[in-house]
Amino acid sequence: MRKPAVTSVPIAALMAERWSPRALDSSFSVTSDQVRALLEAARWAPSFGNTQPARYLVGLRGTPSFDAILSTLNSGNQAWARRASLLLIGVMVTTNAKGSVPYAEYGLGLASENLVLQAVELGLVAHQMAGF
Ligand SMILES: Cc1cc2nc3c(=O)[nH]c(=O)nc-3n(C[C@H](O)[C@H](O)[C@H](O)COP(=O)(O)O)c2cc1C
Repeated sequence: MRKPAVTSVPIAALMAERWSPRALDSSFSVTSDQVRALLEAARWAPSFGNTQPARYLVGLRGTPSFDAILSTLNSGNQAWARRASLLLIGVMVTTNAKGSVPYAEYGLGLASENLVLQAVELGLVAHQMAGF
């Protein structure tokens, strides 16, 4: 289902077409190339000093990793997120050899939006959650 954003002037289709549905198709499976494209898009996000702080824990439905990630969500999110074909947890590197990584949280956010927009490009949907 499409739910294009109503904007005062045209914006890029990738952003206008992005939204966060909860009605997910539990018979759909992402391909490994699609997962790779999502992560590659995240990898190419800008970051402070190119420190690239974003990392993702990956769980494909039907694997123990998926079940482990699902179990961390609150019950409201579990109710619909269990039908996702892929669950990711975004985490960030906060220290490196030079000490603390500046703006790591900002970097994770930028990487995650890249990932979400790549999902739109692939004809997928992505729904972010902070309800653990
Ligand atoms: C950091 C963050 C946390 C969110 N947490 C949840 C969540 O726990 N559960 C949920 O259903 N949606 C969650 N959302 C989705 C937002 O509610 C959604 O993006 C917002 O209502 C705007 O709707 P749209 O994405 O369809 O444009 C979260 C989004 C972000 C960016």
